[in-house]
Amino acid sequence: MAKQFENNMEECFSTSKGVFYLKSLSLEDNGSVSQVIKKRIEAINDENQESEEGDAFFVADIGVIKRQHKKWKTVLPRIEPFYAVKSNPEPLVLKTLANLGTGFDCASKDEIQRILDLSVDPSRIVFAQTTKQISFLRHAQKHKVKLMTFDNEDELYKIKHKYPGAELLLRIQTDKIKGSVNFGMKFGASLDSTKPLLQLAKALGLNIIGVSYHAGCLIAEPRAYRDALEHARSVFDEAKELGYDMNLVDVGGGFPATMEAGITFEVIASRLSQAVDDMFPKDVRVIAEPGRFYSTNAFTLCTQIISRRVVSTEGDSDPTFMYYINDGIFGSFRTLDFGYIHPVLKVLRKNQEIQDDWSGEKVYTSSIWGPTCSPDDFVAKETKLPKLESGDWIIWEKMGSYTSPASSEFNGIPKPKVYFTET
Ligand SMILES: Cc1ncc(COP(=O)(O)O)c(C=O)c1O
Repeated sequence: MAKQFENNMEECFSTSKGVFYLKSLSLEDNGSVSQVIKKRIEAINDENQESEEGDAFFVADIGVIKRQHKKWKTVLPRIEPFYAVKSNPEPLVLKTLANLGTGFDCASKDEIQRILDLSVDPSRIVFAQTTKQISFLRHAQKHKVKLMTFDNEDELYKIKHKYPGAELLLRIQTDKIKGSVNFGMKFGASLDSTKPLLQLAKALGLNIIGVSYHAGCLIAEPRAYRDALEHARSVFDEAKELGYDMNLVDVGGGFPATMEAGITFEVIASRLSQAVDDMFPKDVRVIAEPGRFYSTNAFTLCTQIISRRVVSTEGDSDPTFMYYINDGIFGSFRTLDFGYIHPVLKVLRKNQEIQDDWSGEKVYTSSIWGPTCSPDDFVAKETKLPKLESGDWIIWEKMGSYTSPASSEFNGIPKPKVYFTET
């Protein structure tokens, strides 16, 4: 990634992962996402192409990240965003957010280090993993990352032993809230276990400063956000009786980038803001861990049809088409089955513009397959598409979160490179 900006470097930063250039979006990579895509594809189609070109690639628009942040600050002014690094840890995304002043939700030693490498103060990090490897906890202690979540007794003993000065958030379960991705089965103390946990923490002399939760993703019921906060409030009250004076609520992630499950971010934000103000006085600090909200719409994945099979069935007048592309379920689409990503498909045929509407054309039953040897490597089993050729491109929007970081290089298929622009 760094190499493509080398000619026009204005500011660079180096991390343990390499050297990256921030403001150095060279003119050739400036322009709309569509322009950058077309330029890359022209380069790939060029007969003088370098041998490594021809792989799938991302085009990322840093302007989207900046606009999402502006939106957050406008509609949720009281809630401080701590970006969930796991959703997309691209150095330029992290650096942009660090410059905008967000905090960061880190889940591991590596994620903590990526943020510290950007000279972010450790007080802007929440170690939001309730079950922490001891070496990760030591790393947090060494670098003064104090704020962290927990939800069980073992974790309390571990923290007492390794990092007694930590500032703890008791993560509570929200599994009554039904979304497409629910966390309650794995994370969060049930409401009948919070009191014994608080008592144990008190006995161990640990400092619990607040409550955290993650309401889940794609929640269709806006009331759910208020319900989760009510649970947090009840734990605040319980803690007060035990002598804790909590002052921080972490409302987690799960905020949609635009509209999901029929609800817009703005509707969720206004319900949540109201609930926060109703339940917590102004001196209680409120943070959140948005991931998808920032990253989803910023990244577009470009895949090429590397092969095609036309299947004719006796009795059917039209053939069906099997398209094989150069990224798949073991790569950037790894979390498709978990409901983490909801890409929007467009096509780019030779000598044409990027198209998202083929309603005026004949369409065929089509399937889209990834490049590995696995028969499970399909991205779309049955969809209607116009007739495409090998060499055409399938463009996937909304691919900025839980794609590249969750992907593998199974079968030797490389992870797509990222080309940045800013609109
Ligand atoms: C603890 C925690 N916080 C925040 C997030 C970010 O969620 P989202 O990207 O839906 O905002 C996750 C996602 O898995 C998480 O586990």
